[in-house]
Amino acid sequence: MNQKKINIAIDGYSSCGKGTLAKQLAKFLGYKFIDSGSMYRAVTLYCIKKEIDLRDENLVSIALKNMTIGFEFNTQTERFEVTLNGKNVESEIREMKVASRVSEIAAQSEVRKYLVSMQQKIGKDKGVVMDGRDIGTVVFPGAELKIFMTASVEVRSERRFNELISDGKEVTLSEVMANLIDRDRIDSNRDDSPLRMTEDYKVLDNTKLSRSEQLEIAKSWALHYINQN
Ligand code: DC
Repeated sequence: MNQKKINIAIDGYSSCGKGTLAKQLAKFLGYKFIDSGSMYRAVTLYCIKKEIDLRDENLVSIALKNMTIGFEFNTQTERFEVTLNGKNVESEIREMKVASRVSEIAAQSEVRKYLVSMQQKIGKDKGVVMDGRDIGTVVFPGAELKIFMTASVEVRSERRFNELISDGKEVTLSEVMANLIDRDRIDSNRDDSPLRMTEDYKVLDNTKLSRSEQLEIAKSWALHYINQN
């Protein structure tokens, strides 16, 4: 595409399908898709592996200096996968041991400062679709298109559960649902950059939408803003 590039922020609750939409939209536009949650997960994984007390913000902020978080493009999955000190950890960061602790890490200001600055560098030349919780409010407050995704907790839990099972992970539906509810509560109530929707977001509730239906809606929004630029 020769049009001027924009940045697209996709925020919303856990397991709403933000990543699925972001990936499809990025592919359609020829943009880069970055899953910012994977960076918080990678920090969590590092601390778990090094047996660092996750509640000790001081120790966690010192640990940040010893980790290098990056991305490598996987041509099979057609997505940027997160690396931790050079090793691809995309699968490991999805395990419940990480999912159940990541909100504690994501609530820490030093961690957020460090990752937000990396995310802003990735988006400085535009042409990025990034999903997370604070992308439209903190990371790219000037993003041309901001989408807030939501869906019922039952539908979200079922989708996440099926994903984890087909990935060979051992979990129960009630465990997944409890984790989602807990993460949403922590993410929405923390002091630093809580998940919140401002009036410049477009809301996409996909409880009853198929993947292709939601993509069509997002494509029309994106093209509207790209053509305006
Ligand atoms: O999107 P996810 O479930 O992989 O995110 C993992 C955790 O990181 C979740 O608790 C929310 C948090 N997060 C955040 O606080 N800010 C972001 N930009 C992305 C994720």
